Amino acid sequence: MKIVLLGPPGAGKGTQAEKISRKYKLQYIDTGGILRKNENTKTKKGTPHKYIKKGILVPDYIVIEFILPFIKRAAKQNFILDGFPRSLKQVKLLEKITAIDIALYLEVNQKELIERISGRWICRNCDITYHIKLKPPKKEGICDVCGEKLTQREDDRPKIIRKRTRVFNKSLKPVIKYYEKRSILKRIDANRELKEVWKDIQEIVNKIK
Ligand code: AP5
Repeated sequence: MKIVLLGPPGAGKGTQAEKISRKYKLQYIDTGGILRKNENTKTKKGTPHKYIKKGILVPDYIVIEFILPFIKRAAKQNFILDGFPRSLKQVKLLEKITAIDIALYLEVNQKELIERISGRWICRNCDITYHIKLKPPKKEGICDVCGEKLTQREDDRPKIIRKRTRVFNKSLKPVIKYYEKRSILKRIDANRELKEVWKDIQEIVNKIK
């Protein structure tokens, strides 16, 4: 089973992808996470950090360099791909490597997105995401799993969040249309509580298992 997970910044892609990956034993490819881990790696066109900190898409030629090897390796098995594709060019690249069974699209309104992102804290050690109100760690500021101090992402400042949302709306529209035409797009109302969203996702994924 090969799934792509689409949605605006803060929609809950990372949160749900972790659950999907664990339950259905799918390899999890976290595009943003991979880019952040390599954010200071120099390429001919600069570092990923140069773009991420501004809230704009990292150019395709850099994304390809870092992400494609992960996708090629995972294509032999089952995977959940979070944050890729984000443009039609990326859709076509992915298609050349492997076919996708389903594209899950998490839809969330703008006000809720800002609330979610501004309260997000992450553990850089084990990549777990928390929310100060909605999914707090047991001990404030400390990861439940490894005990590391939690941090906030540089691109989670309000001005950059707004920019990321604008970029998302523009670049993802043709991707959504494309998967809709192929009849593999499943829209999910992700404005609701985490467990309700998770319930809908399982219903959809169970049908294609
Ligand atoms: P990326 O890391 O992919 O970020 P994003 O798409 O902006 O999404 P986020 O990680 O911010 O949010 P999420 O949807 O995963 O939500 P989360 O689960 O954390 O990309 C970062 C940057 O990298 C981009 O801006 C771009 O520069 C670059 N990039 C990445 N991919 C690229 C590509 N393909 N091409 C070019 N450039 C690329 O949830 C958010 C918060 O809400 C959490 O605190 C969580 O606990 C909480 N939460 C989740 N679900 C719920 C719920 N149902 N109810 C209440 N709270 C919830």
